[in-house]
Amino acid sequence: MYFDTHCHLNSDELYVDHDMFIKNALANDVRYMMVVGYDLTSSKRAVELAHEYDFIYAAVGIGPNDCKDTTDQDLNIIDKYLEDPRVLALGEIGLDYYWDDVTPEKQKEIFDKQMILAKKHQKPVLIHCRDAYEDTYDMLKHHGHPGVMHCYSGSVEMAKRFINLGFYISLAGPVTFKNARVPKDVAANINIENLLIETDCPYLTPHPYRGKLNEPANVVYIAQEIAKLKNMEIENVASATTFNAKKVFGIK
Ligand code: NI
Repeated sequence: MYFDTHCHLNSDELYVDHDMFIKNALANDVRYMMVVGYDLTSSKRAVELAHEYDFIYAAVGIGPNDCKDTTDQDLNIIDKYLEDPRVLALGEIGLDYYWDDVTPEKQKEIFDKQMILAKKHQKPVLIHCRDAYEDTYDMLKHHGHPGVMHCYSGSVEMAKRFINLGFYISLAGPVTFKNARVPKDVAANINIENLLIETDCPYLTPHPYRGKLNEPANVVYIAQEIAKLKNMEIENVASATTFNAKKVFGIK
């Protein structure tokens, strides 16, 4: 069985047909899904989905590309959601210097404040990091609180540094792309004990469906590629990554 540790059934693209996408996932042995927020609306939907289905869990948070106007009142709402037992993580949060809609200073402020909330509630963080590895590393080291590097696209060396801080490395669609040398390197060289799988749907659809709308059922293709790169049976990739996900999220 598979655990899609990062999906956006709460996004406008998938939410309208979420029942269908959930059926597809179950039909493909994707038995657990973590629905991840990136703003207040998507966080609210994540909590609602987690209450509707017992195999869906929620993460709530305000992401680096959505925090331009985030206030302390908004963070109080996230704080409240974190009291909910169906909310198992805070995310996605982090830094993204690829887009310049939000200044690095504002991104850091909101990231920092949410790290404090995660520690308060003792829930792991789901980290979005794009073109900001050193600053993200410094922030996580400073707070000393563990979680997941979501849709990890950095180097093997950097991955090892995050693992040393107590983080899991989560691989998404790019590992299946033909010319994606770096994520394939990470899949081959990082121990399965430190890996998770995710779709990040509706984005980053894996090969061979690249260009189409992504959905949780496609997490199987991520596992298949990791199995190939590690010379493992896909069943063992599925069971190991599901075990890791349950461990980090505290699911019995
Ligand atoms: Ni995401």
